[in-house]
Amino acid sequence: MHLLVTSLVSQISAAPACKAKPGQSDEILIIGGWNCERSVAKFNTKKIQWSNMPDTNIARRWPSAVNYNQQILLMGGRQGSTYYNSVEMLDLNDENPKWDSNLPSMGEERCLFASVLLDGLVYCAGGYNGTGSLSSCESYNPEEKKWSSIRNMNIKRSSHSLVSARGLLYALGGGVSNCATNTAECYDPRNGKWEYIPPMKTCRYGLTAVVLNNEIYAIGGYDGSKYLSSVEKYNLDTKTWIDVPSMNHLRSGGSACVVDGLIWVFGGYGAKTVEFYDPATNKWQVSTNMDSERNFPCVLSI
Ligand SMILES: *[C@@H]1O[C@H](CO)[C@@H](O)[C@H](O)[C@H]1NC(C)=O
Repeated sequence: MHLLVTSLVSQISAAPACKAKPGQSDEILIIGGWNCERSVAKFNTKKIQWSNMPDTNIARRWPSAVNYNQQILLMGGRQGSTYYNSVEMLDLNDENPKWDSNLPSMGEERCLFASVLLDGLVYCAGGYNGTGSLSSCESYNPEEKKWSSIRNMNIKRSSHSLVSARGLLYALGGGVSNCATNTAECYDPRNGKWEYIPPMKTCRYGLTAVVLNNEIYAIGGYDGSKYLSSVEKYNLDTKTWIDVPSMNHLRSGGSACVVDGLIWVFGGYGAKTVEFYDPATNKWQVSTNMDSERNFPCVLSI
């Protein structure tokens, strides 16, 4: 029985005739999560409707994903004591998309890592490989289908977040063996250097982060003793962190993306709910439930 076949799953909405650029449709893809690793759902933020998407080929716990021109690249993760460097891809431009495992693998096995797109390249940073947490980073050129390693971060990070803004990468929080850090650092591909930026106010392991209106939002996580609903944001001009109202629910291992100027956040440890933040009202609002608890899902606007 497919995990998503529940009363919460409404009928599949008609596919748009012409594929929008990522983030231009009203839809979000939610991949995996604890105990439903292969399951993929699509959420329509306007209709508040769920639909099923094809299961991934491999059950990947704690993978990371990016959306490259509507090609969903799902990387790494683990299953039991096997750590993956393999990659699979779902091309949403296809009429009947199927996960394709015929892609080059990352240089390193990683779970609990973070990935993001910047100027046509996929960047992956840190994670955990079964032996230790990682500071190593690599980039993937989807046109050349080639991985290259880049400079290590200043510290080892797993369960951190990675975002891109104004031509730079930002690695936020995470930690080593569940020891949460508030440090953040920034990578400039032009000089290949990682440099610290001011630390977050709160240590956050298992946070999620997004960029909206020139600000980086650091959302939830675990501070070393408790799960967090708190949120803070970093202004790229003033280079300072300030508090944002807290979410309605505690979320460590939640995952967020931006659609139409709103931040949507899904799941996390013990959290079945979906909520969104509107910068205009400066408020979080619970939208609906997911089909099941999803801890560390991958969430992408499509
Ligand atoms: C895992 O990462 C550590 C560094 O933290 C490295 O020494 C080790 O070789 C890696 N193991 C594998 C299997 O890649």
